[in-house]
Amino acid sequence: MAVDSFYVTTPIYYVNDVPHIGHAYTTVAADVIARYKRVTGKKVYFLTGTDEHGQKVERTAREQGEDPQQLADRVVERFKELWQKLNISNDDFIRTTDPRHKKTVQTFFQKVFDNGDIYLGDYEGLYCVPCETFWTETQAPDRNCPDCERPTEVVKEKSYFFRMSKYQDRLLKHIEENPDFINPVGRRNEIISFVKSGLRDLSISRTTFEWGIKVPADPGHIIYVWFDALVNYISALGYENGEGEKFEGFWPADVHLIGKDILRFHAVYWPTFLMSAGLPVPKKIFGHGWWTVEGKKMSKSLANVVEPNRLIDEYGVDPLRYFLLREVPFGLDGDFSHQAFIHRVNSDLANDLGNLFNRALTMVDRYCDSEIPPPAAEEGPDQALKEKALQTFGEVDELMEQLAFDRALKSIWELIGAVNKYIDETSPWALAKKEGDKERLGTVLYNTAEAMRMVTLLVNPFIPQSAEKMWAQLGMEGKPDQQTLSEAGRWGLLPAGIRVNPGEQIFPRIDENRAREISVKVEKEMVDTKGQELISFEEFQKMDLRVGIIKSAEKVEKAKKLLKLRVDIGTEERTLVAGMAQCYEPEDMVNRKVVVVVNLEPATIRGIESQGMILAAGDEDNIILVTMAGDIEPGAKVR
Ligand code: MSP
Repeated sequence: MAVDSFYVTTPIYYVNDVPHIGHAYTTVAADVIARYKRVTGKKVYFLTGTDEHGQKVERTAREQGEDPQQLADRVVERFKELWQKLNISNDDFIRTTDPRHKKTVQTFFQKVFDNGDIYLGDYEGLYCVPCETFWTETQAPDRNCPDCERPTEVVKEKSYFFRMSKYQDRLLKHIEENPDFINPVGRRNEIISFVKSGLRDLSISRTTFEWGIKVPADPGHIIYVWFDALVNYISALGYENGEGEKFEGFWPADVHLIGKDILRFHAVYWPTFLMSAGLPVPKKIFGHGWWTVEGKKMSKSLANVVEPNRLIDEYGVDPLRYFLLREVPFGLDGDFSHQAFIHRVNSDLANDLGNLFNRALTMVDRYCDSEIPPPAAEEGPDQALKEKALQTFGEVDELMEQLAFDRALKSIWELIGAVNKYIDETSPWALAKKEGDKERLGTVLYNTAEAMRMVTLLVNPFIPQSAEKMWAQLGMEGKPDQQTLSEAGRWGLLPAGIRVNPGEQIFPRIDENRAREISVKVEKEMVDTKGQELISFEEFQKMDLRVGIIKSAEKVEKAKKLLKLRVDIGTEERTLVAGMAQCYEPEDMVNRKVVVVVNLEPATIRGIESQGMILAAGDEDNIILVTMAGDIEPGAKVR
């Protein structure tokens, strides 16, 4: 592998769910690493993608009345759109349904088979579909999945097994000899005890479902979804074509970023598969923590409260990127609360960084005719500022090596604090008042702007869109991500005489009232969804909803709110009683196409048998009919 290359990956995301803040977290972290490594001069390959096979995806597709490929094609677009919106700079996007991947999985499987590490046997045990994990009765005595606590299913079928037990000692030795192989250290210890407790052979094929890649020599077997998924890391490098240039150049991966829940698959299964295939194992596997939302485990309804698209539309992309990496040490669990988010954005981005740009550039504009002045002799705090800036580059480099994003940002913010303090101490506004202090004023403003150029280079991997604006406001040519830190990170490279472009506020403050409004709204949404019982798709399907056309409508005598309707539901005409006379005149109802619940138990209202119900929204005094937006025949099923 070339020394100047760097390969970083995210997990590939299941397409049974749309992207949420947890997915955004890993992908943003990987993007920051990729961007940082690029400006240190490395040749980077940054891979993300989607995991599209397996029983879970197959089942979700069926529940939604789609075939799995259709579901995958639809959801994959949601991931791609979000990554674009988050400024993710991935070099490749792998889908496990790509022909290149399918071929690689089969080649890899065959290689492990040819090495004598795969045999046919009988599998009898438990399977958790949501986690796509096998369990034994001893591991799950109550038959609930030890990871997600949901019920498992009993599986009894012929299966190919991988001789994982054979690699137990070799894997343990590798982990012990390479302290950086599994990080953080707590997670490394977990894996060490897991491996020490004994590795069993692993079932790696299934015969009872369809959606996956076939075992090359025995197509009645589908390759286990985790065996399939893990191979993505090499199929994207073109491994199927023999160990070509890309593979030689980038394998082994420098870091697989993953969440703590999928550590065992990456730190035990994957390295043993690779050992069997005679390939080097990745250099580092980093298991980050999990986000909760407003103190609670993220559920589908709560995920909605912190839907990444919604946060980006409301606050912009960089505040979200910044918050995710600054708030919580990478590796630990964290909580996403709107209050914490707004506080961080206002204090770090708007106050510290945003104000520095505003005040400094306004002074260059006002006192120096918008031109960066040339520096003269160093005095007072000048040397200390310069040293602080240079020292920050070193510190950030070390912290980025450890993936300590929060501490790297903290270190950059100490530099920002130092520049703000430098301005206060040197008081350029006072220097501007005396003609004799002009030269000193020039030096002070030069040093300030030069330190700001340094800050821009440092924040660029984290908040690239804003860094580009900061670079342009300083009057610099090109873009910060076209620079290399070893070249551009030297003091004194800001050219005197260039014109600054103070303009829009790069980090507008979130208005406190707006912030309060949002908090209230979020809390309300949380209350609305709290304790709400979820129904399955099958339960929803029990309801027979049909398009109906209202043939006639008349008021029900002595009932202010009731209308008696005759509705054609395709197969027959029904009589319905609806409580909406306070909002609709009978003649307004006729010929409207509405949605009717046709399998509702009949009820007698004011002596009239109502044979169904029509759907409407709103409260008692403001009822709006649910009608059809296009041309459709009565009787059509509403789904
Ligand atoms: N498809 C597998 C990965 C295969 S990699 C060869 C998978 N997919 S996933 O979509 O379920 O999860 C992807 C990643 O999202 C995991 O790393 C998981 O830890 C992460 N997260 C899911 N929810 C999360 C939070 N609430 N918080 C942080 N990360 C979370 O597993």
